[in-house]
Amino acid sequence: MKYDFSTEISREGTSTIKYDKREVIFGDHNVLPMWVADMDIATPPFIIERLQNRLQHPILGYTLQDDEYNKAIAWWLEKRFGWTIETSWLSYCPGIVAGLNHAVQAYTNPSDKVLIQSPVYHPFFYAVRQNGRELLTNPLVLSNGKYQINFDDFEAKLKQGVKLFVLCSPHNPVGRVWTLSELTRMAELCLKYNVLIVSDEIHADLVLEPNKHLPLATLSPEIANNTITFGSASKTFNIAGLATAWIAISNSNLLKRYNLQAQRNGTWHGNIFGFEATKAAYTPEGEDWLEQLLAYLRENIRLVRDFLALQLPKVKLVEPEGTYLLWLDFREYNLSNDELKEILVKKAGIGFNAGEMFGDEGSGFQRMNIACPSQMVTFALNQLKDAFGDL
Ligand SMILES: Cc1ncc(COP(=O)(O)O)c(C=O)c1O
Repeated sequence: MKYDFSTEISREGTSTIKYDKREVIFGDHNVLPMWVADMDIATPPFIIERLQNRLQHPILGYTLQDDEYNKAIAWWLEKRFGWTIETSWLSYCPGIVAGLNHAVQAYTNPSDKVLIQSPVYHPFFYAVRQNGRELLTNPLVLSNGKYQINFDDFEAKLKQGVKLFVLCSPHNPVGRVWTLSELTRMAELCLKYNVLIVSDEIHADLVLEPNKHLPLATLSPEIANNTITFGSASKTFNIAGLATAWIAISNSNLLKRYNLQAQRNGTWHGNIFGFEATKAAYTPEGEDWLEQLLAYLRENIRLVRDFLALQLPKVKLVEPEGTYLLWLDFREYNLSNDELKEILVKKAGIGFNAGEMFGDEGSGFQRMNIACPSQMVTFALNQLKDAFGDL
C-alpha cells in the first residue's frame, strides 16, 4: 500500500469536533471518539501540498469557483460514475447541510410537506423543521438484516401533497447503496406526484464492492430534470473542515432558484482552500488514493464483522454497502437508550453516535465510525467485549 492509513495521529489541540466536544456530548473527555463522520486518517499528501502551494501567495482574498475547479468535478463524475455533466450546472455551497437548508427554502413554502427516510442523517430533520416546513417520514424497514424501502408507505406519503423528497444516497446511517430498481421506483413515483428530489450523494465515493453508486440524475432525462444533486470531496478525502460542497442541477430554472436562495443567504462565494483541495482531490492521484482507502476500510469492516460474530454475537452488524459508518444493533440486550449510552461511555470508554439521534427508528442502535487506524477499531472491539460480554 502506497499510502499510510494506520499511523495514529493525535488531533488534540486542533479544535476538532470529534475530540474537543467529547465532554459536551458524552460527559467524558476520554472516550475513544468513533462518532462524527470524519476520518482519523491523514488527508492525502497531494491535497496538503496543493494547499501549501497556495499559501506561498500572501493574499487570500475572495476567490472564484473557476473553470479548473468545475472541470475537476465534471471529470470525477464522468470517471467514477459515467455521469456527463455541463460545468454550467454547478453551484457552490459551504457544506451540504447549508445546501439542504437553501434547497428547502428555495423549493418549498412554509408549512409545505417534505419527505425523508428515517433513520437518517439528523440535519435532514432540522432542515425541514427549522425552516417551518412539515416533516413526513417514510421509515426504512429492517428485514433479514437489510434495510428496505416501504414503497406503499412512500407512495401514500407522496399522495399527501409532499413538495420535496430528500434522498440520502448512499444512506447514512444504515449503509445502503440504493439499486437501480429502488432509485428508479422512487424517482418515478416522485415524477408521478410532482415531487422534487434533493439527492444528497456525499457518500457516493465510499461504496463497497460489488455495490455501485448510481447518481440519481443519470437515470433518465426526466429524472435529471426533477433532481438537485449535492456532492463533495469532503467525506472522501477528509477535508470537511474546508466547508466546500457542490450542487449539480441540469434544470436551469431550478438552478436559478437555488442560486437566488444562496444569494439571499449570502453564501454564494466560496472557500479558497476548499476549491484548491477539490482540484487536487478529483484527479487520477485522488482515485488511486481512494482505491487504497476503500481497501483499508473494507479490512476494518471485516475486523468488526468477524469480531462481533465470534465474540459478541448479540451485537448485530447491519452489513454496510457503503460509507465508513457502521450501524450496530444492540436491541438484543433490551437496554434503554440511556442505559446503553451509560455502558458504552462509562464501561467501554467509547463514543459512538446514539442511534436515536437519526430518528426514533434508531432506538437501540449505535453508529460506529471505522475510518481510523485499524488498531483503534481493534481496541474499541475489545473494550466492547469487556463491557458487554457478560450481559
Ligand atoms: C448524508 C450527509 N450529508 C451531509 C453531511 C455533511 O455535509 P457537510 O459537511 O458538507 O455539511 C454528512 C456528514 O456526515 C452526511 O452524512
